[in-house]
Amino acid sequence: MSDVEKGLASNGASITMFSGKGGVGKTTCAAATALHYASSGEQTLAISTDATPSLSHIFEATGEEKPKKIQGSLYISELGVEEVEEMWDEKFGKEVYDVFSSFVAIDYEEFVEFTTSILPGLSDEFMVDYIRELSLRGDYSNIVWDTAPLGQTLALLHTPAMLLEHLRMAPRVYARLKLSNISKEPILNIISRWQQLSADETDFLRNRVKFVIVTIPEALAVEQLENAFGELDRYGLKVGQLIINNVIKADDSDFLKAKAAQQRRYLDIIYDRYSGLKIVELPMFPYEVKGWDRLKEVGGILFP
Ligand SMILES: Nc1ncnc2c1ncn2[C@@H]1O[C@H](COP(=O)(O)OP(=O)(O)O)[C@@H](O)[C@H]1O
Ligand SMILES: [Mg+2]
Repeated sequence: MSDVEKGLASNGASITMFSGKGGVGKTTCAAATALHYASSGEQTLAISTDATPSLSHIFEATGEEKPKKIQGSLYISELGVEEVEEMWDEKFGKEVYDVFSSFVAIDYEEFVEFTTSILPGLSDEFMVDYIRELSLRGDYSNIVWDTAPLGQTLALLHTPAMLLEHLRMAPRVYARLKLSNISKEPILNIISRWQQLSADETDFLRNRVKFVIVTIPEALAVEQLENAFGELDRYGLKVGQLIINNVIKADDSDFLKAKAAQQRRYLDIIYDRYSGLKIVELPMFPYEVKGWDRLKEVGGILFP
């Protein structure tokens, strides 16, 4: 980290992203973590980029405000397509449209649809940027980022680096187009601004975000873990912690004994493979984790 980056890191919010296979307990862990931070009085935002978010449900909150105040210094926000499209509009949409529409007859809505379909990573890119900007604005000391199931989240994490790579070639490709009657300047400007945006996001993901992976001691989940670590590594993203959820701690029946023995095999594999990582186990509770008290209980285990 350069001195400038260190300076930035000390000013902006701390950001923790929870990632993992569907249903393993990402939202549960994210919500408990946010509650833990907020209960020491720090301004904390739990934000979800899952298209089917469940933060409101887990905090038993109602109302449409974004962010929504839960209690004291705790806020939640569920990021949707509208916010992302708004950002695209603000940052690039109108400008790109002005240039584009000078040589193609197309109305704005059609254009937005067109750009978002030829660039499938667009909404992902703007979600990352949304959180990056939030973290720089200084309203929150902590941002806890709850995500969609693994595949979607990996795509989201790859997008800035991938676009950066593609945009490096864009000026060369563009320079060869025969568009003699249009000034190339505005387009080259847009390309270079976009390149900067992708570079900033890649930097943000690498240097500012702490990744926590949530898993459960079962075959498929453990198998997918390796792929997830490999992919994150490929983009230079480092995992700070692993949470093993739904661990059976009771053995007062044959059923539980058998279940625990089966989990033991996967727990051993996990501890063996990821010995360098901080690993925390979360027991399986005989109830759903919903509402204040139960989230507090989970927080107490995650932050002993
Ligand atoms: N340790 C646990 N014990 C019992 N139920 C749990 C535990 N962790 C999560 N759950 C329940 O499992 C379900 C899925 O959890 P959730 O956090 O929404 O997963 P994800 O966000 O990964 O899809 C929820 O109903 C939640 O209450
Ligand atoms: Mg979830």
